[in-house]
Order: sequence, then C-alpha cells, then structure tokens
Amino acid sequence: MSTEPSEVRPQPQTFYDAVGGEPTFRRIAARFYEQVAVDEVLRPLYPEGDLEPAEERMRLFLMQFWGGPTAYRELRGETGLAARHTRFKINRTARDAWLRAMRVAVDEADLPEAYRAEMWERFEIFAYNMTTHAG
Ligand code: HEM
Repeated sequence: MSTEPSEVRPQPQTFYDAVGGEPTFRRIAARFYEQVAVDEVLRPLYPEGDLEPAEERMRLFLMQFWGGPTAYRELRGETGLAARHTRFKINRTARDAWLRAMRVAVDEADLPEAYRAEMWERFEIFAYNMTTHAG
C-alpha cells in the first residue's frame, strides 16, 4: 500500500507532456520559421530582420498554451494574441500561407494522430481569429 501523502499525487498529464514537452514545440516553431524565412507572402509581414526572437515567442506561447511552463506570460504579459496581430495586414492569403507552413511543421513533428489532429484543429481556429483584413 502506498504511504505517499496526497499532496504528491501525480497531476494528470498535460497535453504539453503528452506530446513530448519542450523539444516538440522547439521543433514545430523552428520548422515553421524556416518556412517563413523564405515565404514571399509571410516574410514581408515580419518587422524584424532576425526571425529568431519571433521563433522564440512562438515556441514559448505554444508551450504555455498547451499546459507547459508560463515563460511566455512572464516575457510578454497578458495582452491577447489577436490584439498583438492587429498591426499586421493579415488577409486570407496571409492566413493560408501561415496555415500551410504550420501544417508542414505539425505534420513533421510525428505526433500520434489524435494529438496531431487536436493541435491542427486549434491552429485553424487561431488562424481564423488572427485574420485582421478581408480579401
Ligand atoms: C494568420 C496568419 C498569421 C500571420 C500572418 C501572423 C504574423 C505574425 C507576425 C508578423 C508577428 C510578429 C512577429 C513577432 O514579433 O513575434 C506575429 C507574432 C506572433 N504570432 Fe502570429 N501570425 C498569424 C497567426 C498566428 C497564429 C494562428 C498564432 C497562434 C499560435 C500566432 C502566434 C503568434 C505569436 C505567439 C506571436 C508573438 C506575439 C508577441 O508576443 O508579441 N500567430 N505573428
């Protein structure tokens, strides 16, 4: 019989842990930004010459969103993600280009199908919410 006090009962596993934790999100963010760097629709939207800081923000956001460490909030505060996108002209073409790049990144992460599908569904919802311009 276990004599462990109840406070140390393991917590239910998060989605973050289930998909492999930080290395998985590092891989997705890196593969996504590799494509942004050479994408003629997406690249001009990114204000910084160096995409590495943006890649890190994406990785930290995703880790936090899926139940991992909350470094993103500490670094960037509580402003909603949609509000952070209003200064960019994100129309349907940009959204589709974003989703195309993220699809490759998610597919290449080699996740079990149920996790891949859940993650992808969330990205599609996010991307529709981030669209700031018609057309
Ligand atoms: C729909 C097409 C989208 C376009 C064209 C787009 C473009 C951009 C651009 C140009 C930036 C600024 C780069 C930076 O300074 O970090 C940015 C930031 C960011 N984007 Fe998107 N984005 C899109 C959708 C999304 C979606 C669906 C997500 C959800 C995961 C997302 C997550 C982020 C994050 C976390 C940041 C950093 C925000 C910050 O902390 O300042 N983006 N995006």
